[in-house]
Order: sequence, then C-alpha cells, then structure tokens
Amino acid sequence: MSRILLVASEGLPFIKSGGLADVIGSLPYEFKKKGHDVRVVMPLYKKIAINWHDQFLYLRTYTVNINYQEVNVNLWQLDRDGVIFYFIEHAGYFEREGMYGYVDDGERFAYFQKAVLEMLNQLDYFPEIMHTHDWHTGMIPALCKENYNHDYRYRGIKHVYTIHNLAYQGNFGPEMLDSCLGLGYYVFDNGNVRFDGGISYMKAGIVYADKITTVSPSYAEEIKTPQFGERLDSVLRFRSADLCGVVNGIDTDLWNPKTDPSIVKNYTLQNVRKGKAANKVALQESLGLEVDENKMLIGIVSRLTWQKGIYLVIEQLFNICNQPIQLVVLGSGEVGLEDKLREAEANNKGKICFYNGYSEELSHQIYAASDLFLMPSLFEPCGISQLISMRYGTLPLVRETGGLRDTVIPYNEYTQEGNGFSFTNYNSNDMMHVLWEAIDCYYNKPDMWKQIVKNAMKTDVSWEKSAEFYLGIFRELLGQW
Ligand code: ADP
Ligand code: GLC
Repeated sequence: MSRILLVASEGLPFIKSGGLADVIGSLPYEFKKKGHDVRVVMPLYKKIAINWHDQFLYLRTYTVNINYQEVNVNLWQLDRDGVIFYFIEHAGYFEREGMYGYVDDGERFAYFQKAVLEMLNQLDYFPEIMHTHDWHTGMIPALCKENYNHDYRYRGIKHVYTIHNLAYQGNFGPEMLDSCLGLGYYVFDNGNVRFDGGISYMKAGIVYADKITTVSPSYAEEIKTPQFGERLDSVLRFRSADLCGVVNGIDTDLWNPKTDPSIVKNYTLQNVRKGKAANKVALQESLGLEVDENKMLIGIVSRLTWQKGIYLVIEQLFNICNQPIQLVVLGSGEVGLEDKLREAEANNKGKICFYNGYSEELSHQIYAASDLFLMPSLFEPCGISQLISMRYGTLPLVRETGGLRDTVIPYNEYTQEGNGFSFTNYNSNDMMHVLWEAIDCYYNKPDMWKQIVKNAMKTDVSWEKSAEFYLGIFRELLGQW
C-alpha cells in the first residue's frame, strides 16, 4: 500500500469547471479500490463552502509567507467513501464567484501550493507520491525540491505531474519568485522556471517532476511538436524519456444510463432506442424544440472556447440547418461564440436550442437524449464528453486529435468495427462531409447505426486500465517492481 496525495484546483462532487474535476472526482477512488491510502487537497472555493461546510471537520490553522507577511491557512477535512479530502481555506483568495481568471491568480495559487506543502508538516503526513495536476500545482515539485531539500521527509516524496491542458500555463512576472513563492532568482537565471521573461508554473512542473504524464498517448506526442507545444515543446522534448500519455476514464457509476436519476427513462443496451426516444421527447419539450422522437438530435456540451472547434459548427450552420436534424448546445465561455449561438437559436426556433450556462443536470439529459455528440476540437488533450457519450449510446463525431483520436474509432462498415465518426483536418467542409454520412446512416442504414451504438456502449470507458497504468508509474518511481 502506498500513500498517494493528489493536488488539484478542482474536483467533483465539490466543484467543476471542466474535465479536470471529473478526473479528480473519480481517479482517487480507483487507487483506493486497489488498497492505497489516498488523499486529495484543493482550495475551499465559495461554492464548496456553501454546500459542504456542515460536513467539514476543522483541523487547524497555520501560516505561510506571502508578500512578506504571515498569512493564515485554515485547514478542513472531509472523508468521503474512504478518500480523505483536505480543503485550504482563505476567504480573500478563494471565496469569490469564479475559480480562475483573476489578476492575482499567480498569488492565489502560490499561496495554495505553499499551504499544501506546509500542511504535510502540520499533519505529519508525508505521501510517497504527490500527484499534481495542471499549472495550479506545477510549482509544488519545484518548491519541494528547492526549499525543503534539507528535510528528509520531503526529500523522499516522488512527484508525478499530469498535464491536462498545456494551453493554460500559469505565466506570471518574475517578481513572484521573491514575493510569493520564496524561491531564489537562480531558478529564473538557470532557466528552470523562466518563460517569456517571467515565470511559468506549467514549465516548472515539467522541469521538476520526476515523471510527467498527460491525458492521452496522442497528446503526449503532439505536445512535443511546435504546433501543439504552446512554446514548451522543446522542454517537453528534453523530458521526453519521463513523459507518457495515460488516457482518462470516467466515473461509470455517476455516468450510467441504467441508474442516472437526472433522466426521465433509464435504459441499457437492450432498450437504448426506446430509452433515447423517451429522453429526447422530454428534452424537446423542456427546451422548446419541435417534439419528434424520430428527428435526429445532435448534442454539444462544452466550454465555449477556441479549443473546442465551435467555429466549425458556426461556419456550417446554414448546411446543418438544411438537414432534418435538431441541435442542442449547452455551454458558456467566449462572448463572441455565445452571441453567434444565440443568434443561431433565434433564427431557427424549434430546431436549435442554445442553453447558455452550466448545468450538471441538463448535461446528463443531453447525453441521454442525443443521437450524435459533436466535438470537432482544434486540439483535445483527452476529452471526457466523448467518453460519456459512448456510455449513453450517443455516437461521437470528433476531429482526430489528442484523446479524441485515441478513444473514438471511426466506423468501418466492412469490419463493423468502430464506435463513432471522425474527420482529420481542421476544416468545416470535412466536418460537414462526415456529418452528412452520419445523418445518412441514422436515417437510411438503421442496422449499421444500431451496430455502432452497440460498439459505443460496449467500449471500455472506465478507469480500470488507466488507473493500473498510473500505479505502474508510481511503483517504478518507488522502486517497487
Ligand atoms: P474540458 O475539460 O476541456 O472542458 P472535457 O471533455 O475533458 O473538456 O470535459 C468537459 C466536462 O465538463 C464534461 O464532463 C462535460 O460534460 C462538462 N461540461 C462542459 N460544459 C458544461 C456545461 N456548460 N454544463 C455542464 N457540464 C459541462
Ligand atoms: C482538460 C482538457 C480535456 C481533458 C481534461 C481532463 O480540460 O481540455 O481534454 O479531458 O482536461 O483531463
């Protein structure tokens, strides 16, 4: 049994902005199932404080130094099904409406990471593996190795850093080293954390971790190229011997059409057609779409950012609207994209619905009701949505990039293999071409459609293999063969 501590900026069921929260909400339990001591630590955001406070156990208050002052850290604990969650409380830093995107993000997450490292001392709990995730935690291996190296309890920790999205890097001014992180300028001078005249939390994670993983084998290769490397490709090539891709799984209990409490009719592979029809009618009624259980429904549940390829959909709206389909989009993000989608809905009432916002419940209903899930991403480190779709018998139509390429196998009518549809180039005509094929298949080749749905629902989207892969990495680092 090993002691594993996951450090992340979000996680279900407490808080979520994207797929990172899905991973942090499920992967620890897979480690737990295999008999490990698993703990998770994250910031105590306002939303968590409101919804979970009465279940928290107060542990202690200590301080870390930020801006040359001792700043209080209130530490809370919550045990959930055998996994211990720690929460770092600071009202000023974390009890805000949103989670990220503030001018003082560098300071907020410097505080968080320092508070996490000091927490180990306070609790006299030292993990063997520290599994950090994305830029919010990228400085932890650096802080640990530079500032705590004299302490054997910290020196023994092995660091695994997982990149969920290289595009978000946590780049800040160099003065942060002194004022917030308490690191000497030599880590800037020697290039370890230097990026673009400032410092990068993401780069620090890549340089200092013992192993680096990312969330799919294809993305692990892509990020070593200038096209996907976000100007860190050379650092990733430098560390390539310690970099690998491990594809995400999903929580198959939370995402289960057989038991999902958010949908009007539960279903399995045996009654997927009927189940989908009932869920579709309910969704059409609630969203003001024309009610017709035979109309092909295309779903999108997404952060509305340039990454997700929504521009391709907007470019093809005219062609899409000429088809016998309905489109439902749930998402929020870039204002320009939101405006375009609002306009699309206004011009196509009954056919297109844009729900601008974030809703867990509606997302479940869309996955269950849709026939096809559209995810034409420009890049996609892994992607959780296409995995959920397959679990619900909703065929993914994706662009072959990153994890989409590793998880969606385009249907081959000769071998009857494949669990969705895909196209290669980031080009809306190519997307439209495959979409036409999918629409034709849905209406004119029902047996083929049925076969793909069967393949999709039988695809293993669980954590089983990937959790074992992570544990293999941990064992290797700990010298346990
Ligand atoms: P990313 O993490 O890049 O946003 P993923 O596909 O890995 O993409 O994960 C997205 C997760 O967030 C999925 O679980 C998806 O259902 C969920 N999600 C995205 N947007 C919304 C939304 N507006 N409302 C509810 N859930 C959403
Ligand atoms: C990021 C990526 C997404 C991935 C998720 C969880 O948000 O954009 O592709 O699935 O992290 O790893």
